[in-house]
Amino acid sequence: MTVVALVPAAGRGTRLGLDVPKAFVALHGRSLLEWAVGGLFASGAVDDVVVMVPDELVDGARSLVPRARVVPGGAERTDSVRAGLAAAGRAELVLVHDAARPLTPPAMIARVVASLRGGATAVIPALPVADTVKRVTPDGAVVATVDRADLRAVQTPQGFAADALRAAYDAAPGELATDDAGLVERAGGTVVTVPGDPLAMKITTAFDLRVAQALAEEQR
Ligand code: C5P
Repeated sequence: MTVVALVPAAGRGTRLGLDVPKAFVALHGRSLLEWAVGGLFASGAVDDVVVMVPDELVDGARSLVPRARVVPGGAERTDSVRAGLAAAGRAELVLVHDAARPLTPPAMIARVVASLRGGATAVIPALPVADTVKRVTPDGAVVATVDRADLRAVQTPQGFAADALRAAYDAAPGELATDDAGLVERAGGTVVTVPGDPLAMKITTAFDLRVAQALAEEQR
């Protein structure tokens, strides 16, 4: 079964406070995009990678990740994933992996694909939540303490039978999801978890980038 990984990399990354889109920010001398695509190929579990970037950066991205196909993304992450799905051709299995998770261990990527090959329809890497979590009102008053034993923090790559992901996107034309598995859940699909990895952390803020920089230096 052909496995195509879609890499949404068309976000502006404004929370990072830099003047380049997040996927093009350098980490230890390589862009986040190069790290993410490199990890996917290094897993040995992915046949093809499609990267979705801002319109004006399509050519630049092609020179950074020559093994990947590069297409323009969209205004929202869901639009970017739709553009990737349209370019994925006849893939039977699809991964969706944020460019913002550059240090994702290849072994974790292989775990997601192995679970799909074992028959799962939708697979997400998940980690237990370390902090106690409270539900609060908009002005910060505590309403409840949520039992964290039931909670998981979810990472990417998320893996799908391609038909199930396409159907979930078709069923929710205007939906804005931060999480592709959420669309599959809403469409009635079953989503399973595999163990995530702290190294698959998402870079959102300048602090995250500093942490990733330290980890990248340790790894080299
Ligand atoms: O902004 P956030 O970190 O949630 O974005 C997650 C991923 O989705 C990033 O890799 C970002 O580049 C991508 N994205 C996209 N198209 C958008 C918005 C975000 O590909 N319009």
